[in-house]
Amino acid sequence: MTYIFANWKMYLTHKEGLALARKLQTVSIPDDVTLGVFPNMITTAAVKELLEDTAIQVGAQNLAWTPAGAYTGAVSAFIAKEIGLSYALVGHSERRYIFAETNTVVRKKIEACFDSGITPVVCIGETTKDLEEGNREYRIKKQIMKALEGLSVKDNQLIIAYEPVWAIGTGKQCAPQDVIEMHTLIRKEIKSYTDAEVPLLYGGSVDAQNVVSYIKLDCVDGVLVGGASTHYDSLISLLGAVQESR
Ligand code: PGA
Repeated sequence: MTYIFANWKMYLTHKEGLALARKLQTVSIPDDVTLGVFPNMITTAAVKELLEDTAIQVGAQNLAWTPAGAYTGAVSAFIAKEIGLSYALVGHSERRYIFAETNTVVRKKIEACFDSGITPVVCIGETTKDLEEGNREYRIKKQIMKALEGLSVKDNQLIIAYEPVWAIGTGKQCAPQDVIEMHTLIRKEIKSYTDAEVPLLYGGSVDAQNVVSYIKLDCVDGVLVGGASTHYDSLISLLGAVQESR
């Protein structure tokens, strides 16, 4: 299975998100590809309805770690499940570094997803500072440890996306060889906490031009795409490139 996850972030307005979802209604998705879109929270339920009769999965960009109660502004994994969402991004670097989400919060969100049957897509990755200070491995290992240590995981119950922060939205591409090295390290770390099957994605400036260089790697189970997934033409070109590479 190859995962193509489209993180629309806050790039699209509600109306733009609905328009893009309508255009996607007629797109055919190969059986061995899981296409998932992650609209903003306001738009998500309507996009889910629009894509109900398609193979396209809909996920949340973020969820709260509590199930219900007096948490102004929060949306729980249970609510996400109730409207039929399948996935939730957890610990995206924009949540970690702009909204100050800690590894502890990320872990609670993973558990909340498990409790409600949502598959968390846990994002990990080093910053430019980590890279410059030689802390790349340290950062990755710590994020994985905090996410997985002592956690009981079933096959495919959780997905990890390696997204070097310096490659997100910058057009700076992580060389495929670099991805191989990091994914090898990440797989080894995952293995030290669980024997479960954990799909491993790559994300960071992925587009129609470079997507094949990543998905053709044995160690890459799919991609998490931001900017290039927010326009119909660029998303379709990316899907086409994936299909042609088969
Ligand atoms: P990008 O974003 O494709 O725009 O670099 C990826 C992501 O943040 O998931």
